[in-house]
Amino acid sequence: MKRVLSVASEAVPLIKTGGLADVVGALPAALAPMGWDMRVILPAYPGVIANLNKGSKAVWASGDLFGGPATLILGQCGEMQVMALDAPHLYARTGGPYSDGQGDYADNAERFAALSWVAAEIARHGTQEATPWHPDIVHAHDWQAALTPAYLSYAGAQAIPSVLTIHNIAFQGRFSPTKMAAMRLPAQRFTPDGFEFWGDISTLKAGLVSAHAITTVSPRYADELMRPEFGLGLEGVLQYRADVMSGILNGIDKQVWDPENDPEVKPFSAAKLAGKKGNRAALIAEFSLDANAITGPLMILVSRLTSQKGIDMVPGAISEFLANGGGLIVLGSGDRWAEAMVQDLSARYPGRVGNWIGYDEGLSHRMFAGGDAVLIPSRFEPCGLTQLYGMRYGCVPIVAAVGGLADTVIDATPAACAAHAATGIVFQPVDTLGLRQALRRLTALWNDPKEWAATVKRGMKTDWGWEPSAHRYVALYEATIRRGTDA
Ligand code: ADP
Ligand code: GLC
Repeated sequence: MKRVLSVASEAVPLIKTGGLADVVGALPAALAPMGWDMRVILPAYPGVIANLNKGSKAVWASGDLFGGPATLILGQCGEMQVMALDAPHLYARTGGPYSDGQGDYADNAERFAALSWVAAEIARHGTQEATPWHPDIVHAHDWQAALTPAYLSYAGAQAIPSVLTIHNIAFQGRFSPTKMAAMRLPAQRFTPDGFEFWGDISTLKAGLVSAHAITTVSPRYADELMRPEFGLGLEGVLQYRADVMSGILNGIDKQVWDPENDPEVKPFSAAKLAGKKGNRAALIAEFSLDANAITGPLMILVSRLTSQKGIDMVPGAISEFLANGGGLIVLGSGDRWAEAMVQDLSARYPGRVGNWIGYDEGLSHRMFAGGDAVLIPSRFEPCGLTQLYGMRYGCVPIVAAVGGLADTVIDATPAACAAHAATGIVFQPVDTLGLRQALRRLTALWNDPKEWAATVKRGMKTDWGWEPSAHRYVALYEATIRRGTDA
């Protein structure tokens, strides 16, 4: 069996703020049938170790990891093997993984440098088990783990192959250069071809210039990242590394997201679509919306509420859709201005628009089951998972033509409908007018029940499982290891 060390700050079911956690948590089980043994190294936030199966054990320890003692605890969580980095001075916090009510933790630089540092130690020297576990390759995710390939390179351990995946380039791990020593970064690499970025440290950049291979989570986002409007300052670095860069689409966990077997919902399937009606009625009742007034599609939105997600376009685009019988339910949390905007929409359209500000996994399942359409008007979207969950649960996705959204939804043009290929509505330009026109098209599709049902069923029957992408990761790991050995 080949071994891969996955380095990340989130993984379901232990800790999640977004899609990164879904992907990191799903990969080990997806890779196992292909003969790959993946261990995930994760900070031991409060509760993480308690959620590992009995029999967990220490496999590495240090008396001083960035200012305090640390132990790496190996345990099992479902099918995932986790190495939880127990370092109370860094991770025993009452808020979320990155911030609390006061904002980002002041020592995030050290917190995630420490995670990457330990990952690099394990990659170089193996664990301290009786039979040490040595990975054949390291797979780091996003800025929190991006220093792993960098530390390997600074230690002269370039021969240890590494892959860095960009889930979202908007988060670049930018810190003041005064943090350099605390992060154990070598001052001579504070250069434009090192980890220096506009006078700051960027952990993501450090990883992008050091990793043997770079991936992102859809082919289209891989192309978009080469341009300034999506690369957000890192496009030059990525152009320089274009020969080792590729896009591999995320999959979904088909067991967790299975409308025929979901404890949260009344079962239904493409063959038994009528079952969806009960879920719709229950959802409308749960939000006390006006069942008689909603004669058009009931649209849902499940999202972090940040400017990335394009929620600010909704108020200016929605009135005609609602006047034509549509309904809208929003589940999300995030920036205060966006939360207020959502609450204001509900107040303006009582009986038509409902919302729940917060994070609620169970409710998200009930929404996908009860909704007719799922709205994702993102300004950029590296992959996006809710359009995939939506399609699996019989919601027609209505998405901006960016990133993974454009790669996974086939727009209901006359040609695509005639070819029995359409799975949703894809719109551009990504602005209020574009969204308003897309909503008009959604209503028109709804008013053609045969075409609507065909579109829903095609989405439900498409296989969004991990298998094809897991094969791509394995091919990439193998090619990267081969190149490393040849070099
Ligand atoms: P991102 O990672 O940018 O937030 P994705 O679409 O990849 O976007 O993943 C978001 C994940 O988080 C999905 O699994 C989605 O269902 C979930 N999610 C987002 N907001 C909420 C919420 N308020 N309650 C429950 N689940 C949510
Ligand atoms: C990021 C992206 C999202 C992607 C997820 C998992 O959070 O915003 O598009 O699906 O990572 O890769």
